[in-house]
Amino acid sequence: MKIQIINGPNLNLLGKREPDIYGNSSFEDYLIKLREKYPDVQIDYFQSNIEGELINALQAADDAQCDGIILNAGAYTHTSIALRDCIKSLRVPVIEVHLSNVHAREEFRHISMIAPVAKGSIMGFGLDSYRLAVEALLG
Ligand code: DQA
Repeated sequence: MKIQIINGPNLNLLGKREPDIYGNSSFEDYLIKLREKYPDVQIDYFQSNIEGELINALQAADDAQCDGIILNAGAYTHTSIALRDCIKSLRVPVIEVHLSNVHAREEFRHISMIAPVAKGSIMGFGLDSYRLAVEALLG
């Protein structure tokens, strides 16, 4: 089982960025624990602040025939038709995740370009949203 986690813009700042919303842990520290919890699953990780690099990473994960992609596209969730088109073209299932419950926040976060083309969406559970997404993929 091989899962690709892809994080979008500003998620490299987890632990430092708005900790009241996103918590105090860096993604790298969380990833160590996540990998320990699923020793039989290969969990690859990529982060970029650049929209096109996220698209390249999604296409590469699909080409590599991983079993699933967990995508937190950050603010591109709400704006990126290019990411939506990309996800729609993939064979591998993509799970949309967010640390925060975007529906409990500003109105501009209530729209997701990605949700209609994702297998499902998990949000509002902090970093645990990623574990829940792994569970969903393990099915
Ligand atoms: C986020 C929610 C987005 O609205 C925001 O732009 C982010 C993080 C989340 O994980 O809660 O960058 O995707």
